[in-house]
Amino acid sequence: MRPSFPPIALPKWPAVGALPKLAVGPREFLDANQARHGDIFATTILGQKIVFFTHPRHVQHIRVNNSRKYSAGKGNPIAHLIFPDGIITTDGKKWRDRRRAAQPYFTPSHLETIFPAIDSSIRKNLTPFEESATNGAPCNIRECASSITISVITEAMLGARVSRDDLEKIISAIDYITNHPLRFFAQATLLENLQIPWRTRAQESLSLFSTVVRNILNDPNNQSHGSILRIYARDPLQSRAISNILELILAGYESTECVLTWILLHIAHSPDLQRRLALEIDQSIGNGEPDPGNIRELKHLHMTLHEALRMYPPAYLLWSQCTETDTVDDLTIEAGTRAVISIFHTQRHPSAWTSPGRFVPARFEHDDTIAEHRRNGSFTPFGTGSRQCIGQRLANSEILLAVIRILQRYRLCPTAPTSRLPNPDLRISLRPLGKIQLLASHR
Ligand code: HEM
Repeated sequence: MRPSFPPIALPKWPAVGALPKLAVGPREFLDANQARHGDIFATTILGQKIVFFTHPRHVQHIRVNNSRKYSAGKGNPIAHLIFPDGIITTDGKKWRDRRRAAQPYFTPSHLETIFPAIDSSIRKNLTPFEESATNGAPCNIRECASSITISVITEAMLGARVSRDDLEKIISAIDYITNHPLRFFAQATLLENLQIPWRTRAQESLSLFSTVVRNILNDPNNQSHGSILRIYARDPLQSRAISNILELILAGYESTECVLTWILLHIAHSPDLQRRLALEIDQSIGNGEPDPGNIRELKHLHMTLHEALRMYPPAYLLWSQCTETDTVDDLTIEAGTRAVISIFHTQRHPSAWTSPGRFVPARFEHDDTIAEHRRNGSFTPFGTGSRQCIGQRLANSEILLAVIRILQRYRLCPTAPTSRLPNPDLRISLRPLGKIQLLASHR
């Protein structure tokens, strides 16, 4: 007979539960528990019961077929601290209203309108590639991807002019939160509740972030016609407007940066892949101007993007809270339990993918592959069901366009012939571990 609740990964220190293990190595924690207990396992963190799910069928069960028994909005405790009033962190009517207000700014026709602005944000951030090609010095790929994606979200999407200084402040605040999510969480909740009068890095990051966003919101030059900022600026509750903008910046910046970094790394480390992509771009666009039409033709580039999203889904944990007792694989999930799906595992699950740890864009060669894997829950890098990512098209367009602009001009290679691809580091999103440098040369 199966247990009525998934096996517990026993915590070493009962008061904090699995927090230390999860904080030190989320990947080791998830891998070890999956190997030991199977595709569902549970633990406690600070007294809260958390169940982890790692099989593709769980994605369908929780996010599609039984989504009414789960609150996606209440799921993610860190998102709640930063933007409690956003699309990601609300449910029901509040969520519908927020999502409907933002939706027009993510349609294909709006994205076509802002396409030149996306392109311009990308091109002005390619200087480090040019410098590397000119003087042979390594180029820090993460920093480049980071400047590209923060510019796209603030300038092209929000339509705001933000000083370099303010952009750097945003990046450093996000870096702190994403590099130390559990420390951030502990500082922002425990110390706050205990009313300890230290000014913590968590508080500093949040207040710095809010100040920059408030400046963006209050600058009348930033509310150009057709920009989403206009909608938020009209909100009588400024704290809600700030929360909404913070959410778009946070959700849209780091995830996109991670995927772009992984693609550039694979291109540099695989001369075959690079040749193939460069040839495809030469044949369809050459040195001319990319547009949404000719980008759609680049089949191999799309396959590469899908494979990067499969192997390195930046939002690799889908959080929700069970609101009505549910049964998953014969196991009872009680109301109040946090349900966390690891799509890092579902997208590498051996039941759905052959050689899941290998980067093979060709697995997406057939047009129906994505639909099939989406249906069985094994390819959901942007989530699935009604809470799917609103920024999916924006993210895809900017990543594809950035790779095109880079490969039109440069050849990429690792800094040393012996250097290897970095391992993924599971934090808030899924970054490559260590210092990420490449060399660029002119084509
Ligand atoms: C490669 C880039 C991106 C990836 C992989 C990604 C992934 C995801 C995932 C997995 C979810 C669903 C979370 C859940 O169900 O719990 C999500 C939701 C969301 N994403 Fe993205 N995202 C990306 C880029 C963006 C961008 C560019 C924006 C906006 C500028 C954005 C805004 C949002 C919002 C607002 C939601 C909440 C949707 C809802 O609850 O209705 N994302 N994203």
